[in-house]
Amino acid sequence: MNLPSKQAYVPFVSVDNMMKLVLQIGVERVLADLVGEIEDDFRRWPKFDKTPRVASHSDVGVIELMPTSDGETYGFKYVNGHPSNMKKGLQTVTAFGLLADVGTGYPILLTEMTILTALRTAATSAMAAKWLAPKGAKVMALIGNGAQSEFQALAFKAICGIEEIRLYDVDAQATAKCMANLEGRGITLTACKTPQEAIEGAQIITTVTADKQYATILTDNMVGAGVHINAIGGDCPGKTELHRDILLRSSIFVEYPPQTRIEGEIQQMEADHPVTELWQVITGEGQGRKSPTEVTLFDSVGFAIEDFSALRYIHGKLAETGLFEQLDMIADPDDPRDLFGMLLRSA
Ligand SMILES: NC(=O)c1ccc[n+]([C@@H]2O[C@H](COP(=O)([O-])OP(=O)(O)OC[C@H]3O[C@@H](n4cnc5c(N)ncnc54)[C@H](O)[C@@H]3O)[C@@H](O)[C@H]2O)c1
Repeated sequence: MNLPSKQAYVPFVSVDNMMKLVLQIGVERVLADLVGEIEDDFRRWPKFDKTPRVASHSDVGVIELMPTSDGETYGFKYVNGHPSNMKKGLQTVTAFGLLADVGTGYPILLTEMTILTALRTAATSAMAAKWLAPKGAKVMALIGNGAQSEFQALAFKAICGIEEIRLYDVDAQATAKCMANLEGRGITLTACKTPQEAIEGAQIITTVTADKQYATILTDNMVGAGVHINAIGGDCPGKTELHRDILLRSSIFVEYPPQTRIEGEIQQMEADHPVTELWQVITGEGQGRKSPTEVTLFDSVGFAIEDFSALRYIHGKLAETGLFEQLDMIADPDDPRDLFGMLLRSA
């Protein structure tokens, strides 16, 4: 049998190896590292190819491709969003992704991204809050206690110094699961019976629910002056979490406006409703929070550059951790024009 050439192999990070890698480095360390990587890439935002993600909608969910490139490296993520999956015993969100060398087009990494997406989403949320939340915020309401929730909680603890989390979910079992997973991690946890109870005394409100329809997780009267809202779950046409009146009195921060206007909370607003791009707050070209009484809203939908940063981070950890396998993925004949000959010789 002819052995594949060296270039045929692509490092592959399985779910098993991703879990080992995250636990070896430490969840909070990975979250903090990802904030650094995402912030670095947001600082060089104009360098990237940008496009709203390519979405294929069905009655029950969406499948999306999220590509970007910085001119040297190309990355994409495949991700789905199926709120009805949970009732079938399946996850709402699953993902995998790839990095490639722009110079040759050859892939340099293939990896699971379901866990990595939860990490990068939480890291992006905490990064936004670092720039936008009121100073000295210690209490966060966490509404929606599903797959993403623990990652959000730990990112806000590690990056923003959140000490207390008030949890609410329509399903009390989700809250119990989230609290059990977060036990002993240095956060005071309070289970709440209503969203109103959860937001009591919270300076940050995170909404991370899943419903494939316009939902109203927060109404205007629930949002007090000076609060920062981290809205994660409204990320698809027809799928929002906040009442429109909240948007009318919030300063709204987004990742990539052409995508957020289709998918985010601001799909409820006029096409020219003012927003600030988060990368501009980080570079100093835009202004973040202007006063202690302002309501700031991070209208998160998840953008390809965050996945690119996360892929780059994992790629950078391969040699150090050895937590990958080599996949024989690229057909690479010795004579590049003799693909057919390589096929025949394999018999
Ligand atoms: N913005 C981003 O970058 C990004 C990234 C990943 C996921 N998401 C979105 O985040 C959301 C959560 O994802 P997940 O993987 O945790 O989903 P999940 O299905 O595991 O959890 C969602 C939770 O929301 C709860 N819920 C539903 N309606 C509610 C309501 N009205 N009030 C309170 N709780 C309610 C459910 O009971 C469930 O526990 C999804 O909508 C997903 O599309 C966004």
